Amino acid sequence: MTQDMSGVGEHYAATGVVLRIRAALASLGPEDRPLGTRELGAMDQFHTRGHGATAELAELAGIESTDRVLDLGCGIGGPARLIAASRGCRVIGVDLSEGFVEAARYLSLRTGQQQRVEFHAGSALALDFADASFDVVLLQHVAMNIADRPRLYREIRRLLAPGGRFATYDVVRGEGEALYPAPWARDSRDSFLLDAQATREAVEAAGLRVRAWLDDTPAARSWAAQLKAAASATTSTTSTTSATPGLGVVMGPDFPVQAGNHARNLLEGRVGVLMAVFEAV
Ligand SMILES: C[S@@+](CC[C@H](N)C(=O)[O-])C[C@H]1O[C@@H](n2cnc3c(N)ncnc32)[C@H](O)[C@@H]1O
Repeated sequence: MTQDMSGVGEHYAATGVVLRIRAALASLGPEDRPLGTRELGAMDQFHTRGHGATAELAELAGIESTDRVLDLGCGIGGPARLIAASRGCRVIGVDLSEGFVEAARYLSLRTGQQQRVEFHAGSALALDFADASFDVVLLQHVAMNIADRPRLYREIRRLLAPGGRFATYDVVRGEGEALYPAPWARDSRDSFLLDAQATREAVEAAGLRVRAWLDDTPAARSWAAQLKAAASATTSTTSTTSATPGLGVVMGPDFPVQAGNHARNLLEGRVGVLMAVFEAV
Protein backbone atom coordinates (compact mmCIF):
# COMPACT_ATOMS: atom_id res chain seq x y z
CA MET A 1 0.00 0.00 0.00
CA THR A 2 1.32 3.47 -0.89
CA GLN A 3 2.11 5.63 2.15
CA ASP A 4 -0.12 8.67 2.60
CA MET A 5 2.54 11.40 3.07
CA SER A 6 0.09 14.08 4.19
CA GLY A 7 0.75 13.54 7.92
CA VAL A 8 4.53 13.75 7.45
CA GLY A 9 4.03 16.75 5.16
CA GLU A 10 1.91 18.56 7.76
CA HIS A 11 4.38 17.80 10.55
CA TYR A 12 7.19 19.47 8.55
CA ALA A 13 5.01 22.10 6.83
CA ALA A 14 7.05 24.95 8.33
CA THR A 15 4.69 27.75 7.33
CA GLY A 16 6.49 31.09 7.45
CA VAL A 17 9.76 29.49 8.45
CA VAL A 18 11.95 31.93 6.49
CA LEU A 19 10.34 34.88 8.29
CA ARG A 20 10.92 33.22 11.67
CA ILE A 21 14.54 32.41 10.81
CA ARG A 22 15.14 35.93 9.55
CA ALA A 23 13.77 37.35 12.81
CA ALA A 24 15.84 34.93 14.90
CA LEU A 25 19.03 35.88 13.03
CA ALA A 26 18.43 39.64 13.24
CA SER A 27 20.56 39.90 16.38
CA LEU A 28 23.59 38.60 14.42
CA GLY A 29 23.65 41.67 12.21
CA PRO A 30 22.20 43.00 8.96
CA GLU A 31 20.94 40.69 6.19
CA ASP A 32 23.96 41.42 4.02
CA ARG A 33 26.54 40.35 6.62
CA PRO A 34 27.73 36.84 5.61
CA LEU A 35 27.18 34.28 8.36
CA GLY A 36 29.47 31.36 9.22
CA THR A 37 27.77 27.93 9.13
CA ARG A 38 28.46 27.56 12.87
CA GLU A 39 26.70 30.85 13.67
CA LEU A 40 23.39 29.15 12.91
CA GLY A 41 23.93 27.03 16.03
CA ALA A 42 21.66 24.00 16.36
CA MET A 43 18.95 25.60 14.25
CA ASP A 44 19.78 23.81 11.02
CA GLN A 45 20.93 20.38 12.27
CA PHE A 46 17.67 18.54 12.76
CA HIS A 47 18.95 15.33 14.34
CA THR A 48 20.41 13.89 17.54
CA ARG A 49 23.82 15.37 18.51
CA GLY A 50 23.67 18.15 15.87
CA HIS A 51 26.92 19.27 14.19
CA GLY A 52 29.03 16.61 15.90
CA ALA A 53 27.03 13.75 14.40
CA THR A 54 27.10 15.26 10.89
CA ALA A 55 30.89 15.74 11.05
CA GLU A 56 31.40 12.16 12.31
CA LEU A 57 29.15 10.70 9.60
CA ALA A 58 31.03 12.62 6.88
CA GLU A 59 34.35 11.35 8.25
CA LEU A 60 33.06 7.76 8.48
CA ALA A 61 31.86 7.95 4.88
CA GLY A 62 35.26 9.32 3.78
CA ILE A 63 33.70 12.20 1.83
CA GLU A 64 36.24 13.91 -0.43
CA SER A 65 36.14 17.18 -2.35
CA THR A 66 35.51 15.40 -5.67
CA ASP A 67 32.54 13.38 -4.40
CA ARG A 68 29.06 14.11 -5.76
CA VAL A 69 26.93 14.09 -2.60
CA LEU A 70 23.15 13.84 -2.26
CA ASP A 71 21.49 14.61 1.10
CA LEU A 72 18.05 12.97 1.14
CA GLY A 73 15.54 14.55 3.51
CA CYS A 74 17.94 17.50 3.86
CA GLY A 75 15.71 19.59 6.14
CA ILE A 76 16.76 23.25 6.06
CA GLY A 77 20.15 22.27 4.67
CA GLY A 78 22.46 22.43 7.69
CA PRO A 79 24.18 19.07 7.09
CA ALA A 80 24.65 19.88 3.38
CA ARG A 81 26.23 23.26 4.21
CA LEU A 82 28.44 21.80 6.94
CA ILE A 83 29.70 18.99 4.69
CA ALA A 84 30.24 21.30 1.70
CA ALA A 85 32.25 23.68 3.89
CA SER A 86 34.28 21.06 5.76
CA ARG A 87 34.91 18.52 2.94
CA GLY A 88 35.09 20.94 -0.01
CA CYS A 89 32.51 19.03 -2.09
CA ARG A 90 29.25 20.00 -3.80
CA VAL A 91 26.05 18.79 -2.14
CA ILE A 92 22.51 18.52 -3.53
CA GLY A 93 19.71 18.33 -0.96
CA VAL A 94 16.17 17.04 -1.53
CA ASP A 95 13.30 17.39 0.93
CA LEU A 96 9.58 16.70 0.98
CA SER A 97 8.88 20.06 2.66
CA GLU A 98 8.78 23.04 0.29
CA GLY A 99 9.05 25.37 3.31
CA PHE A 100 12.27 23.66 4.38
CA VAL A 101 13.70 23.87 0.86
CA GLU A 102 12.92 27.59 0.78
CA ALA A 103 14.65 28.00 4.16
CA ALA A 104 17.62 25.92 2.98
CA ARG A 105 18.10 28.22 -0.02
CA TYR A 106 17.75 31.35 2.13
CA LEU A 107 20.32 30.16 4.68
CA SER A 108 22.73 29.13 1.94
CA LEU A 109 22.57 32.66 0.56
CA ARG A 110 23.14 34.04 4.06
CA THR A 111 26.24 31.84 4.47
CA GLY A 112 27.47 32.60 0.93
CA GLN A 113 27.36 28.93 -0.09
CA GLN A 114 24.95 29.03 -3.01
CA GLN A 115 27.68 27.85 -5.43
CA ARG A 116 28.35 24.69 -3.41
CA VAL A 117 24.88 23.56 -2.36
CA GLU A 118 21.51 23.37 -4.09
CA PHE A 119 18.13 22.25 -2.84
CA HIS A 120 15.04 20.75 -4.46
CA ALA A 121 11.61 19.73 -3.23
CA GLY A 122 10.80 16.05 -3.82
CA SER A 123 10.24 12.65 -2.28
CA ALA A 124 13.10 10.29 -1.48
CA LEU A 125 10.95 7.53 -2.95
CA ALA A 126 10.66 9.01 -6.43
CA LEU A 127 13.68 10.97 -7.59
CA ASP A 128 14.38 11.93 -11.16
CA PHE A 129 18.19 11.84 -10.99
CA ALA A 130 19.79 9.40 -13.46
CA ASP A 131 21.16 6.06 -12.25
CA ALA A 132 24.67 6.22 -10.67
CA SER A 133 24.58 10.04 -10.32
CA PHE A 134 26.20 10.20 -6.86
CA ASP A 135 29.27 8.97 -4.98
CA VAL A 136 27.66 9.45 -1.56
CA VAL A 137 24.02 9.48 -0.45
CA LEU A 138 23.32 10.77 3.07
CA LEU A 139 20.19 10.03 5.08
CA GLN A 140 20.03 11.58 8.55
CA HIS A 141 16.94 11.10 10.71
CA VAL A 142 14.61 10.53 7.77
CA ALA A 143 14.03 6.78 7.46
CA MET A 144 11.68 6.74 10.46
CA ASN A 145 9.20 8.77 8.37
CA ILE A 146 9.23 6.24 5.53
CA ALA A 147 7.11 3.09 5.58
CA ASP A 148 8.45 1.48 2.40
CA ARG A 149 12.08 0.89 3.37
CA PRO A 150 12.80 -1.62 0.57
CA ARG A 151 11.80 1.02 -1.98
CA LEU A 152 13.80 3.76 -0.20
CA TYR A 153 17.00 1.70 -0.09
CA ARG A 154 16.55 0.44 -3.69
CA GLU A 155 16.22 4.06 -4.83
CA ILE A 156 19.42 4.98 -2.93
CA ARG A 157 21.25 2.00 -4.47
CA ARG A 158 20.09 3.05 -7.92
CA LEU A 159 21.53 6.54 -7.46
CA LEU A 160 24.98 5.35 -6.33
CA ALA A 161 27.89 5.07 -8.75
CA PRO A 162 30.10 1.94 -8.54
CA GLY A 163 31.93 2.00 -5.20
CA GLY A 164 29.52 4.66 -3.91
CA ARG A 165 28.64 4.95 -0.21
CA PHE A 166 25.33 5.23 1.58
CA ALA A 167 25.79 7.03 4.94
CA THR A 168 22.89 6.83 7.36
CA TYR A 169 22.27 8.25 10.83
CA ASP A 170 18.83 7.27 12.03
CA VAL A 171 16.61 6.64 14.99
CA VAL A 172 15.91 2.92 15.47
CA ARG A 173 13.35 1.01 17.49
CA GLY A 174 14.42 0.09 21.03
CA GLU A 175 12.57 -1.74 23.80
CA GLY A 176 8.97 -0.64 24.29
CA GLU A 177 6.93 1.99 22.49
CA ALA A 178 8.26 5.44 21.63
CA LEU A 179 6.53 8.45 23.17
CA TYR A 180 4.91 11.06 20.92
CA PRO A 181 4.86 13.79 19.80
CA ALA A 182 8.47 13.20 18.80
CA PRO A 183 10.57 15.58 16.67
CA TRP A 184 9.83 13.41 13.59
CA ALA A 185 6.12 12.65 14.10
CA ARG A 186 3.12 13.94 16.02
CA ASP A 187 1.94 10.39 16.68
CA SER A 188 2.75 6.80 15.77
CA ARG A 189 0.81 6.96 12.48
CA ASP A 190 3.70 8.81 10.78
CA SER A 191 6.48 6.89 12.50
CA PHE A 192 7.95 3.71 10.97
CA LEU A 193 10.82 2.74 13.24
CA LEU A 194 12.79 -0.44 12.53
CA ASP A 195 15.36 -1.88 14.92
CA ALA A 196 19.04 -1.75 13.94
CA GLN A 197 19.19 -5.35 12.68
CA ALA A 198 16.05 -4.99 10.55
CA THR A 199 17.47 -1.75 9.13
CA ARG A 200 20.68 -3.55 8.19
CA GLU A 201 18.78 -6.39 6.52
CA ALA A 202 16.62 -3.97 4.52
CA VAL A 203 19.66 -2.01 3.32
CA GLU A 204 21.63 -5.14 2.43
CA ALA A 205 18.68 -6.55 0.50
CA ALA A 206 18.94 -3.51 -1.79
CA GLY A 207 22.49 -4.45 -2.84
CA LEU A 208 24.61 -2.56 -0.32
CA ARG A 209 27.11 -4.04 2.15
CA VAL A 210 28.21 -2.74 5.55
CA ARG A 211 31.44 -0.78 5.59
CA ALA A 212 31.14 0.85 9.05
CA TRP A 213 28.62 0.19 11.82
CA LEU A 214 28.30 2.16 15.07
CA ASP A 215 25.68 1.95 17.78
CA ASP A 216 25.45 5.66 18.59
CA THR A 217 22.93 5.13 21.39
CA PRO A 218 25.37 5.70 24.31
CA ALA A 219 26.53 9.05 22.84
CA ALA A 220 22.91 9.97 22.07
CA ARG A 221 21.91 9.21 25.68
CA SER A 222 24.67 11.46 27.07
CA TRP A 223 23.51 14.22 24.73
CA ALA A 224 19.89 13.68 25.84
CA ALA A 225 20.88 13.83 29.52
CA GLN A 226 22.66 17.14 28.93
CA LEU A 227 19.64 18.56 27.11
CA LYS A 228 17.35 17.44 29.90
CA ALA A 229 19.55 19.09 32.51
CA ALA A 230 19.69 22.30 30.46
CA ALA A 231 15.91 22.26 29.97
CA SER A 232 15.21 21.90 33.69
CA ALA A 233 17.66 24.72 34.43
CA THR A 234 15.67 27.14 32.30
CA THR A 235 12.84 28.96 33.96
CA SER A 236 10.85 29.66 30.80
CA THR A 237 8.39 27.01 29.66
CA THR A 238 7.65 28.72 26.36
CA SER A 239 11.17 29.47 25.16
CA THR A 240 11.89 27.84 21.79
CA THR A 241 15.53 27.55 22.83
CA SER A 242 15.04 25.69 26.09
CA ALA A 243 15.57 22.08 24.99
CA THR A 244 17.55 22.28 21.78
CA PRO A 245 18.62 25.85 21.03
CA GLY A 246 17.48 26.96 17.62
CA LEU A 247 15.27 24.14 16.35
CA GLY A 248 12.22 25.64 18.00
CA VAL A 249 12.49 28.48 15.47
CA VAL A 250 11.93 25.94 12.71
CA MET A 251 9.37 23.62 14.34
CA GLY A 252 7.41 26.12 16.40
CA PRO A 253 6.25 26.28 20.02
CA ASP A 254 5.58 22.52 20.37
CA PHE A 255 9.22 21.70 19.81
CA PRO A 256 10.29 21.62 23.50
CA VAL A 257 7.69 18.88 24.13
CA GLN A 258 8.90 16.90 21.11
CA ALA A 259 12.53 17.29 22.18
CA GLY A 260 11.66 16.29 25.74
CA ASN A 261 10.01 13.10 24.48
CA HIS A 262 13.03 12.34 22.28
CA ALA A 263 15.28 12.65 25.34
CA ARG A 264 12.98 10.35 27.34
CA ASN A 265 12.77 7.85 24.49
CA LEU A 266 16.56 7.66 24.40
CA LEU A 267 17.12 7.61 28.16
CA GLU A 268 14.43 4.95 28.71
CA GLY A 269 15.72 2.75 25.87
CA ARG A 270 12.54 3.11 23.80
CA VAL A 271 14.64 4.17 20.79
CA GLY A 272 18.31 3.97 19.84
CA VAL A 273 20.44 5.70 17.23
CA LEU A 274 22.41 4.00 14.46
CA MET A 275 25.29 5.46 12.45
CA ALA A 276 26.37 3.30 9.53
CA VAL A 277 28.03 3.46 6.12
CA PHE A 278 27.29 0.93 3.36
CA GLU A 279 28.89 0.54 -0.05
CA ALA A 280 27.37 -0.41 -3.35
CA VAL A 281 28.14 -4.00 -4.41
C1 LIG B 1 14.14 15.17 11.33
S1 LIG B 1 14.27 16.02 9.81
C2 LIG B 1 16.01 15.79 9.39
C3 LIG B 1 16.52 16.85 8.43
C4 LIG B 1 18.00 16.75 8.05
N1 LIG B 1 18.33 15.45 7.53
C5 LIG B 1 18.87 17.06 9.24
O1 LIG B 1 19.41 16.12 9.81
O2 LIG B 1 19.02 18.24 9.57
C6 LIG B 1 13.49 14.88 8.69
C7 LIG B 1 13.36 15.44 7.28
O3 LIG B 1 12.99 14.40 6.38
C8 LIG B 1 12.10 14.95 5.43
N2 LIG B 1 11.35 13.83 4.84
C9 LIG B 1 10.50 12.97 5.44
N3 LIG B 1 10.02 12.07 4.56
C10 LIG B 1 10.59 12.37 3.36
C11 LIG B 1 10.52 11.81 2.06
N4 LIG B 1 9.73 10.76 1.77
N5 LIG B 1 11.25 12.37 1.07
C12 LIG B 1 12.04 13.46 1.31
N6 LIG B 1 12.15 14.03 2.53
C13 LIG B 1 11.45 13.49 3.54
C14 LIG B 1 11.26 15.91 6.24
O4 LIG B 1 10.58 16.85 5.45
C15 LIG B 1 12.31 16.52 7.16
O5 LIG B 1 12.90 17.66 6.59
